[in-house]
Amino acid sequence: MKTLTLTRPDDWHLHVRNGAVLKTVIAHTAKQFARAIIMPNLKPPVTTVLQAQAYREDILQAIPAGINFTPLMTLYMTAATTVEEIKLAAESSYIHAFKLYPAGATTNSDAGVADIKTIYPQLAALEKYDLPLLIHGEVVDEHCDIFDREREFVDTHLVAITRDFPALRVVLEHVTTLEAVQFVEFAGANIAATITPQHLLFNRNAILAGGIRPHFYCLPILKREQHRLALVKAATSGSSKFFLGTDSAPHLTTLKENACGCAGCYSAHAALELYAQAFETAGALDKLEGFASFYGADFYRLPRNSETVTLLKSAWKVPENYGTGDVSITPLLAGEELNWQLQ
Ligand code: DOR
Ligand code: ZN
Repeated sequence: MKTLTLTRPDDWHLHVRNGAVLKTVIAHTAKQFARAIIMPNLKPPVTTVLQAQAYREDILQAIPAGINFTPLMTLYMTAATTVEEIKLAAESSYIHAFKLYPAGATTNSDAGVADIKTIYPQLAALEKYDLPLLIHGEVVDEHCDIFDREREFVDTHLVAITRDFPALRVVLEHVTTLEAVQFVEFAGANIAATITPQHLLFNRNAILAGGIRPHFYCLPILKREQHRLALVKAATSGSSKFFLGTDSAPHLTTLKENACGCAGCYSAHAALELYAQAFETAGALDKLEGFASFYGADFYRLPRNSETVTLLKSAWKVPENYGTGDVSITPLLAGEELNWQLQ
């Protein structure tokens, strides 16, 4: 049987929520990944070091016994974030970045930033304390077509942020367009990007052709095929600027299959398998380890993992849903077959 052994990977962009959903999803990630950057967009958002410490404890409590997994915490940037909090975060060994959501851009982003100019003192502090800024890169302007929101953000805001804070370490999260890829490629070594499995595997037809398929709806939304191809090229290029970040974003099935369905694809159940499928189709399985296990750790200045994981080329069927009682989460590719399976 064909196998693929990799250094144990990390997930550099993950939503695990809290309460019953956290308990349902965390084992999926912890079985695959040694570490994950935990997104702070809870209700209410995680804005202080103290809140992040409490959230970290909740996550550690929810990990099944015997599994070695480290949550890497982030704080949610708001107009009210103080320079003192940024200093505290930089001094804490648990906090690895701040997350910038433009207000209204996505799930639980109401507390985000309405005008980036107003957080210039905070960005200066991040640059000074050398704490990465993770960006949801979409403009919120209702007149901007939803398929153009990332490109518009890159042209206006990202150009300005990287010009005005040249030493700031930035991760443009879940890139979805050729323009974002090109921006990151030509920027300095302090600018990197994560790429999700859904943006490598699918284009926007997956959401809309043959019926509306809410489980493919996430933000930034899937784009045209030419953009998917640019993402595959970047992920499989061997460039250390692009690394794995699933953006696995669990929502209850009832809130996805809804007249106003939530944005987010749940991919933690098969994250590495989904990436393996994308890399294999591109004829680039040899590039998966750098993307999944090395470049993110290097960017965050953390040691690379020393354990390994093995994938088997063995087909299996993705369950229709995960969870018990009130919790039902429909995973990406529910009911479909995947080629690779984690041992
Ligand atoms: O699709 C998304 N879901 N995009 C985001 O940026 C947030 C995420 C979520 O939290 O559900
Ligand atoms: Zn996200």
